[in-house]
This record gives sequence, C-alpha cells and structure tokens, in this order.
Amino acid sequence: MSDIIISPSILSADFAQLGREIKAIESAGCDWVHVDVMDGHYVPNLTIGPGVCKAIRPHIKTVMDVHLMIEPADPYLKDFADAGADYISIHPEAGPHLDRSLQVIRDLGCKAGVALNPSTPETCLEYVLDRIDLILVMSVNPGFGGQSFLTSQLPKIGRIKKMIAGRDILIEVDGGVTPENAKMIAGAGADALVAGSAIFGKGAQEESVYAANIAALRTAATS
Ligand code: DX5
Ligand code: ZN
Repeated sequence: MSDIIISPSILSADFAQLGREIKAIESAGCDWVHVDVMDGHYVPNLTIGPGVCKAIRPHIKTVMDVHLMIEPADPYLKDFADAGADYISIHPEAGPHLDRSLQVIRDLGCKAGVALNPSTPETCLEYVLDRIDLILVMSVNPGFGGQSFLTSQLPKIGRIKKMIAGRDILIEVDGGVTPENAKMIAGAGADALVAGSAIFGKGAQEESVYAANIAALRTAATS
C-alpha cells in the first residue's frame, strides 16, 4: 500500500469553531474533509444540514466528502450539491431507486458514493457499478462517532475490491478507524480512511496534535 486518503470526520470536531477546525486539519495534512449528515430518522442522531455545509465550504481547500445518513435523500441532493459537495454518498436503504439517485448526483456535477451499513451486502452494488465513484464501507452502525471497528467488515472490503475489477472507484472505510487497525483496513483494500475520534479526540486541539494523529494513521496504513 503506497498511498491512502485520510478524511477526518468533523462530527468529532468542535462545532462552535468548524472553520478553525477545518483549517487546522487541512494544515495538519488531511486529504479530504468528511461531513456526516444525520436526520434523526434514518439514524438516531441529528447533526448538520446543507446550510452548515455551505457555510464551511469556503474553509475547505481540499475535498468536501459528504455522507448522507438521511431518508429520503433524493429531495436534498441538489441542496448539498449547491452547498459545494464534491462527493455525495447515499445509503441504498434511504430511497427506492438507487440507480436513479446516483444518476442525479452525477448530473448535479458531484461524484457519487454508496454507503453500505455493516449488515448491507455488497451485492446491492452489482448493477450500479458504472454509476459509482466511491463505495463507503461502514465499519460501525451509522449514527455516532467513537464506536468500535467491526472486524466483520474486513472480508466485505476485499469482496468489493474484486467486484470493482479495476474500475475507477474508491473504497472508503468509515467508523472506528485507529492507527491500530489502519494497516489491516488498508491491506484489505481501502483507498480512503474516515476518522473522527482518532483525529479530533474531543476537538479544539492544537494543529500539531491533529498533525500527529493524521500522520499516525497514514504511517500505519501505508507501512
Ligand atoms: C458514523 C459516521 C462516522 C463516524 C466516524 O455514523 O459516519 O463518520 O463519525 O467517527 P469515529 O472515527 O469516531 O468512529
Ligand atoms: Zn461518515
């Protein structure tokens, strides 16, 4: 493994200073910024919406990686595209027509991602592979940061890698990622790692702390 994308989840950042937190993680060397959007319906937690995405967009110099844990997602896709999302990932259970939703995301000028819950089989991707830029493998049940990595997802990453068969699709792993398991996850085939707690801790820390945490993940994943 020679290269890995590190996408800190701002769910664990200090929400009172999101602009400052984003600047700090980008200066500290992250590749993307992961934004967890939750609706209190598809998942049992409420976080942020397109208004906050639009407000933080000017602070993001890298890539805005938006993970929608909302049901339905279709009525809001344009709002997140207008807010400046680069990637929009949706859960297949959150709408009746995955193929159509993925087309809409690309038509809006964004890269299209599909997020798979731990219990969702990768076979649901079989007939939409040509519409996908990113597959987000959830290694915790979505809704909260700070949960433990589910090792049951490791074989799924490998199976997805085979399924992609050389297509230009990235595999992102989200949930419970730490320097201790990053090597195993990258070895299984992940191209991108989302990490909230492992990078921010409780948030509002010095940039040097974020730099050390990002470097620890990168070193572990690429060693
Ligand atoms: C969970 C979110 C994840 C999570 C990552 O629903 O999608 O992005 O916040 O946080 P950690 O790294 O703390 O598991
Ligand atoms: Zn996420």
